[in-house]
Amino acid sequence: MAIEDKIKKLMDMRELARLGGGQKRIDAQHQRGKFTARERIELLLDEGSFEEFDMFVSHRTVDFGLDKQTYLSDGVVTGYGTIDGRLVYVFSQDFTVFGGSLSEMYAQKICKVMDKAMKVGAPVIGINDSGGARIQEGVKSLGGYADIFQRNIMASGVVPQISAIFGPCAGGAVYSPALTDFTIMAKNTSYMFVTGPKVVKTVTGETVTDEELGGANVHASKSGVSHFAVEDEKEGILLIRKLLSYMPQNNLEDPPLSPCDDPIDRLEDRLNEIVPDNPNKPYDVKEVIHSIVDYSEFVEVQRNYAANIIVGFAKFNGMPVGIVANQPLYLAGVLDINASRKAARFVRFCDAFNIPIVTLVDVPGFLPGTAQEYGGIIIHGAKLLFAYGECTVPKVTVILRKAYGGAYDVMSSKHLRGDLNYAWPSAEIAVMGPRGAIEVLHNREISSITDDTERANFINEKETDYRNKFATPYVAAKYGYIDDVIEPRNTRFRIIRALQSLATKKDTNPPKKHSNIPL
Ligand code: HXC
Repeated sequence: MAIEDKIKKLMDMRELARLGGGQKRIDAQHQRGKFTARERIELLLDEGSFEEFDMFVSHRTVDFGLDKQTYLSDGVVTGYGTIDGRLVYVFSQDFTVFGGSLSEMYAQKICKVMDKAMKVGAPVIGINDSGGARIQEGVKSLGGYADIFQRNIMASGVVPQISAIFGPCAGGAVYSPALTDFTIMAKNTSYMFVTGPKVVKTVTGETVTDEELGGANVHASKSGVSHFAVEDEKEGILLIRKLLSYMPQNNLEDPPLSPCDDPIDRLEDRLNEIVPDNPNKPYDVKEVIHSIVDYSEFVEVQRNYAANIIVGFAKFNGMPVGIVANQPLYLAGVLDINASRKAARFVRFCDAFNIPIVTLVDVPGFLPGTAQEYGGIIIHGAKLLFAYGECTVPKVTVILRKAYGGAYDVMSSKHLRGDLNYAWPSAEIAVMGPRGAIEVLHNREISSITDDTERANFINEKETDYRNKFATPYVAAKYGYIDDVIEPRNTRFRIIRALQSLATKKDTNPPKKHSNIPL
């Protein structure tokens, strides 16, 4: 065969591989409002940067007549490219080939990119659109999943891993995304569940739709499995690019700095007024976040889950940080099971990837009650405590208002190796809120007063005494637990100075196999 013919054969084979399961199935994919595996990669990566591997791989199963049904690439597109000029490895599942279901060879393709990403220290982006294990391959497919899981686990905390769910994600297939750092689901076209509605009906008798069982909204608000629910795939892909701009390539690097012309000493007068005089009145801590970070830009993670705590990424003078903030607007910013889990996982992500943490505190304590106790708030609250205490990245804390009880300790206090701890003059730092404290300290006197007005006056008077004595930042400042009391409008500048002073911070934990975080 002449070389021209050989090259033509190569081109024809490439063309065939690009067609995946064929034009009809590609059209069906488009009709559902979904992109194909290759289109998604093109949208994700810098133009022309994609280098594909294993285009000519096909499965080697003969059962069920599969020997007569082979497709080049075998249902997953893999390789590497760049995002904003930085290397990433990708795999993108192709629903047009056997419903994107995972075969032995398909799994090997994914494992190959994960191994390469680990060798060079680059993020892995997985785009999922798959009917799960390829039924015809049986245990080979199950083994393939486990091979991927093992790599997800080894890569955890070494290179960032992001999963997009742009179609069905059923059975064991959900566990690979669950092992990664962030999961993004497209609304209306994606769902995740361990068993689908039919199995649910058989086992529990419950009737439920795909969407109700595992749609993007369910996982972004009820289960917390998904970190983001996006309107469509394009939004999801842009979000992946954005998220990576806050992350280093791997755990040995620092996150990338970007140029910033938002003045570092920008004064925000409205912050001096934002905390209401009435301590029981809420305000929106997101307003505080937006006014102190570069260009007001904040990428919120798990926005619709446990809204009593806010977590997400922002920059200060071009330096990426993770922000954790109690949200007084929702359940008074109380720490409950979901909020503790959400924030703990985020703190650990930041710590693994050298991203400093800025914590804004306004927390009345842990949520009391049987629902929380039976649900294990002790264990879950301990997760957040553990995460903050274990983490060694720069930690800057600002107490805006309440820091009561155990929640004071938990929220990146000095005692958990908080590096620079500031408070606004409105801060109230005490073992508990005035009402609770007075009822404990003066229980006998209160119950001995029979006249209602007299009792109310007594309580008010004691509360005022308590508030004046304890509900200020100055007792904590007296003991050095607060490094300074700062003017709210100057918060951006003080945080930036703090982060600059901590840029070369080194801290370690004792050598050990791993810690035993209360799971
Ligand atoms: C082989 C599969 C497949 C699978 C779909 N297909 N899932 N082939 N193995 N798991 C094929 C279909 O036969 C069809 O082929 C094509 O993909 C598209 O599927 P449709 O059913 O026509 O599409 P749709 O109606 O959109 O439904 C998609 C679906 C459904 C929801 C994913 O196909 C489905 O329920 N599949 C099975 C899901 C599942 O139970 N998987 C196993 C989970 S257990 P043609 O030729 O007609 O185009 C698991 C264990 C892993 O994953 C354990 C790891 C620990």
